[in-house]
Amino acid sequence: MDADSCIHLLHPYSNNMKILILLFTTFTFGFQAKQVASSNPHSYESIFSFGDSLSDTGNFVVSGSLAFPVIGKLPYGVTFFKHATGRCSDGRLVIDFIAEAYGLPYLQPYLKLTKGQSIQHGVNFAVAGATALDAEFFQQRGMGKILWTNNSLNIQIGWFKKLKPSICATRQDCDSYFRRSLFIVGEIGGNDYNYAASAGGNVTQLMANVPLVVEEITKATSALIAEGAVELMVPGNLPVGCSAVYLTIFRSQKKEDYDRNGCLKAFNAFARYHNKQLNLALGKLKQNNPGVNIIYADYFGAAKRFFHAPRHYGFTSATLRACCGGGGPFNFNNSARCGHIGSKACSNPSTYVNWDGFHLTEAAYKHVAKGLVEGPFSYPPLRNSPFKIA
Ligand SMILES: *[C@@H]1O[C@H](CO)[C@@H](O)[C@H](O)[C@H]1NC(C)=O
Ligand SMILES: *[C@@H]1O[C@H](CO)[C@@H](O)[C@H](O)[C@H]1NC(C)=O
Ligand SMILES: *[C@@H]1O[C@H](CO)[C@@H](O)[C@H](O)[C@H]1NC(C)=O
Repeated sequence: MDADSCIHLLHPYSNNMKILILLFTTFTFGFQAKQVASSNPHSYESIFSFGDSLSDTGNFVVSGSLAFPVIGKLPYGVTFFKHATGRCSDGRLVIDFIAEAYGLPYLQPYLKLTKGQSIQHGVNFAVAGATALDAEFFQQRGMGKILWTNNSLNIQIGWFKKLKPSICATRQDCDSYFRRSLFIVGEIGGNDYNYAASAGGNVTQLMANVPLVVEEITKATSALIAEGAVELMVPGNLPVGCSAVYLTIFRSQKKEDYDRNGCLKAFNAFARYHNKQLNLALGKLKQNNPGVNIIYADYFGAAKRFFHAPRHYGFTSATLRACCGGGGPFNFNNSARCGHIGSKACSNPSTYVNWDGFHLTEAAYKHVAKGLVEGPFSYPPLRNSPFKIA
């Protein structure tokens, strides 16, 4: 039944579409070589990414945390890669669009690196399911069993430190290389709240964890600065009150619990609260590190636009209902999640904001990335990108 729904999905793409995608791929890689040759000091030449499923490009599936993770098979990847890559979407993620915009190759997952492989353009340390807080925090609170992974932000920073000697040799070497490197710390922290919510925590209880989560994010950012990072982007949380999972778990009979877009007010307020606290903490970090550029990425603002004006962004099918799922009002069913038996994917993911209940579609991620690279959702703005996000 599973395999069937994947095959159906391949049909809507005409040959023309396939050729276009092929052309586009060639186009990107053609420019990439050029970019290397004429190293532009005002752009980025490498990206180092840390985080969770919003930016994992394949670490989780090879981490061995789960023997047969559903994200390791179709319909994950169906839109762009045509096979599953370990990305939690139907195609590219925000990080992939950022890489394209700067003429860089898609980031290699750290756990898939092979000896002798070039890491000149960066590495991705993000792991789906990862938390900002260490696994022990959840284990001590009886939630150890529901963690997808123990590879928290700290562990990922440790991986970077271990790899660093093969990235640059001397202090001088590292300084000059990191001047052209973008470090992306997150999105991370969303899972810390997701786990607590799925364990029955209410919004007040989630709120209590915000200072702890924010502290972990700022600690990781400081650790990277200590390692020589001078250009860092730290994303905030998405409007989780509009996510199919939260809408399903916290479904309410009270009309006043929803805003005019149908999102849960309390959880969007919660996401804003996290973002506000993160911003305050980043402000302090900036004061203490005057030579360092710390950029806040407003994922909330970039994504909120879809729920206000979905048609403007091509989301003609649904903004709140997931494309891939096993039924229910938001097509999120915990007993039949996307990829599991009983679930089915829509035939036109690019007309949906939400992919599988938790994660967004490639189309939605593209608009978020565009909002970050081309503005106005990065504070201060990222460096000018040589390519526009289509
Ligand atoms: C996380 O670590 C604990 C304790 O070492 C272990 O029991 C558990 O299986 C690990 N979880 C995952 C998902 O790897
Ligand atoms: C959240 O749960 C706690 C502990 O059970 C309870 O005291 C509190 O009233 C709840 N808050 C909300 C907003 O439901
Ligand atoms: C959720 O999935 C289970 C298992 O496939 C199914 O029995 C149930 O009817 C589904 N619920 C909804 C609301 O579609």
